[in-house]
Amino acid sequence: MIITKHTPLPKDFLWGASTSAYQVEGENLSHGKGPSVQDTKEIPAGTSGFEVCADFYNHYEEDIALMAEMGFKTFRFSIAWTRILPTGRGEINQEGIDFYSNVIDTCLKYNIEPLVTMFHFDLPDALEKMGGWSRRDIVDDFVNFARILFENYGSRVKYWLTINEQNMLTLVGEAIGTSDFTGVTNKVKKLYQDNHHMLLAQAKVMKLCHEMLPGAKIGPAPNISLIYPASCKPKDNLAAQNFNAIRNWLYLDMAVYGIYNNLVWKYLEEHDAIPEIEDGDMEIMKAAKPDFIGFNYYNTSTVEWDDGSEDAASGKVDQQSGATEKGVYKAFPNPNLLRTEFGWEIDPDGFRATIREIYSRYHLPMIITENGLGAYDTLTEDGKIHDNYRIEYLRKHIEQLKIAAEEGCEMMGYCPWSAIDLVSTHEGIVKRYGFIYVNRDEFELKDMKRYRKDSFYWYKKVIATNGEDLTD
Ligand code: BG6
Repeated sequence: MIITKHTPLPKDFLWGASTSAYQVEGENLSHGKGPSVQDTKEIPAGTSGFEVCADFYNHYEEDIALMAEMGFKTFRFSIAWTRILPTGRGEINQEGIDFYSNVIDTCLKYNIEPLVTMFHFDLPDALEKMGGWSRRDIVDDFVNFARILFENYGSRVKYWLTINEQNMLTLVGEAIGTSDFTGVTNKVKKLYQDNHHMLLAQAKVMKLCHEMLPGAKIGPAPNISLIYPASCKPKDNLAAQNFNAIRNWLYLDMAVYGIYNNLVWKYLEEHDAIPEIEDGDMEIMKAAKPDFIGFNYYNTSTVEWDDGSEDAASGKVDQQSGATEKGVYKAFPNPNLLRTEFGWEIDPDGFRATIREIYSRYHLPMIITENGLGAYDTLTEDGKIHDNYRIEYLRKHIEQLKIAAEEGCEMMGYCPWSAIDLVSTHEGIVKRYGFIYVNRDEFELKDMKRYRKDSFYWYKKVIATNGEDLTD
């Protein structure tokens, strides 16, 4: 019998890092760009808005040169729908088309593969005002937007991601600033109707990509992390299965197999929240196939059984995904894990477990589209940022990714969050994630100069050795 030894990481492994348009670019209402829901939402107190961010719009050449210096093989960024179509449909803003064209060309100049997210939390405000994802026609709007991207960039962009963290939009849209429940009586129904439209839009766009760009590859980018049961009580295990289905498998079962997860279906029935599904929808979703799975991973969650009684339902909401659902599961703080300064659990072993689980369910190559540590970094007087805590976090996650690869899980790439400091979804720019420091404070812009953090030099070595050397 021949035993196949799995090599650690393939030679063409896509090392890189990620950003999203509304969090990094700035110039959010200029150069022809229309407002997105991020520009019209109420900004959380004490945090900056998205007018400047890292000013990537004006610094992209310098920033991509720094990524090239680190040795990036890929750069994951998103395209702001309203920079291309200011109202989400209709007239195209040529300046927007040109901007991303320049970003793509700059990447290619350095042999960096652009990995383009088509939608990252920034729905055109004009479409939101018409009903957002609740309106069935939005599927056509998204397909139209995708067609424009494929026409303009398809000859240069090989890797595409459809929707960033569709599951977080559904589970914690209020924190991200994307859920409007005005006049809604059944929130669950609205959320899962929106979700159905997103799933359908994604399926149509995957199909369109394959038709228009035969050499390209496309996949989803949900936030997937394994849910642990709080104990070995059988009921806690059932609770963990429930939440795994609602948080994770619904999205990938649909993207890969075109089926509604049965546990989620039951949950929707119980909430009178079965979405309206038109004839042909399920066939479209079954026919569309991703080429790979992109997923964001920050931490696992732990849940215990909730018997539905008043007391049991008072469980605390977890840091990312709001893991409390009366009568289904209740969030449980995992006592075995350390936490970041911002209270997020740190779980590299859970990363490996998540990769294994995804691979055993779907058997598709995987690219990590986000993973990282948000922290208050300090710039020293001599221009250094000693972010050993970030190095430690990333090292431990890469170690587990490599073991998962040796165990036979097909790994395509690793793109931590974030390439450069940018504004967090709701905790400001002082919650820094980047390898590149941007010299600004929450409200004081300073000189916006870029500095290489210690993690910058470390990651450069990691990439140069294809993940072999993870030492400082
Ligand atoms: C992911 C998002 O959920 O996590 C990013 O795709 C986000 O947009 C990142 O910035 C980190 O979360 P936060 O809330 O710290 O910005």
